[in-house]
Amino acid sequence: MFKKSALKLAAIATVVGSALSYSSIASAATEIKAAFNQSDKHPQYLALKEFGEKLNKETDGRYKLNIFPNELLGDQRAALELVQNGAIQMAVVANPLVENYDKTFAVIGMPYVYTGSAHQEKVFTSGVLDNLFASTQKFGFEVLTAYTAGARSMYTKGNSVANVADMKGKKIRVMQSDTMIKMLSCMGGTGVPMSQGEVYTAVQQGVLDGAENNEITYADLKQYEVAPYFSATRHLMVPDLVVASSYFLSTMSKEDQATFKKLAKESTVSEFALWNAQIETAKKTAMDKGATFVEVDIKPFQESCSALQKDLIKTPAQKDLFEKVAALQ
Ligand code: GCU
Repeated sequence: MFKKSALKLAAIATVVGSALSYSSIASAATEIKAAFNQSDKHPQYLALKEFGEKLNKETDGRYKLNIFPNELLGDQRAALELVQNGAIQMAVVANPLVENYDKTFAVIGMPYVYTGSAHQEKVFTSGVLDNLFASTQKFGFEVLTAYTAGARSMYTKGNSVANVADMKGKKIRVMQSDTMIKMLSCMGGTGVPMSQGEVYTAVQQGVLDGAENNEITYADLKQYEVAPYFSATRHLMVPDLVVASSYFLSTMSKEDQATFKKLAKESTVSEFALWNAQIETAKKTAMDKGATFVEVDIKPFQESCSALQKDLIKTPAQKDLFEKVAALQ
C-alpha cells in the first residue's frame, strides 16, 4: 500500500517537475497547472481549455494554463490537497470532496435536489452560490465556479435495477464522502467509496457489482465493458467544482485576479452547452459496444431518499441555501 502511494507520488513529482522546467524554458508566462481526472475529450476539459485560452489572451500572455488529464496529478482527493498547499494552482473536483471540508456543500449535491439541467444551470449562474464558494478561502482554496456533470444513474454487471429491492446486496462504488455512502443506502444498496481511477478494475474483479455515474463518464472511461446495464435512476446531479489555490490567487494582481475569476464563471455556460452536446454521442458509443440502457420509474427511489434530504439539511446555512436552490426551480 505504502509502496504504491510512494510510487504514485514520485510519478506526480516527475510530471510536475518536468512541466515546471519545460515552462520556465519555453516562456515567461506563469504556468497554471490544473488537475483533471478524466480524458481530454471530456466537456469539462474542453471548457477549461477554452477558459485558459481566453485567460492567456486577456492577460496579454501573462498566464498559461496547462491541464493534466486522466488523474496524472493524482485522484481528486490528492489533487485538492495539492491545490490547498499551493503545489498546483487549479483542479476540477466533485462536490463531495469539498463537502468533506464544509457540510453546507452537501445541499447542492443531494439526491433529487434539481429538477433538471436548466434548473441546475440557473443555480450555478445566478450568484446564489457566490458566498459559499468564497467561504472556502480559510481552507487554502477557493471555488471559482461549478460545472455540470449531468445526472448520475446506476450501472451494474449481470442485470439492470428497477427498484430499491433490486439494489439489495449490491456493492456499488461511490465518491469519497459520507453523504455518498448514505445516498447509496437510501437507494437500497451498499456504497463503497473509492477514487474514479480504480472503478473499472474493481468491477472487473468482482469487488464491486457496479457503480453510478453520468453517461459521459460511463462512456469516456469505458466502464460499459465491465458493467453493461445502465439503469436511468438519475438520482444525483452532483456539481463538479473548479477550485484554485488561495496562495496562487494572492500572487496575482487585482486586475488579473478579477479577469481570472470572471472567465472561470463564464466558462460554466460553455461547459453546460458542451455537456448537452455530448450526451447522446456518449450513449451511442456505449450502446454500440453492447451496453443496455433501461428507463426506470424514479418515484420509489425519490421516496426512499426523501428522509436523507431531511437528514442532510440541519444547519441554518444549509436551510437557507436549500430554500434559495428550490426557489430557482
Ligand atoms: C463524475 C464527475 C467527476 C467525478 C466522477 C466520480 O464523472 O464529473 O468529477 O470524479 O464522477 O464519480 O468520481
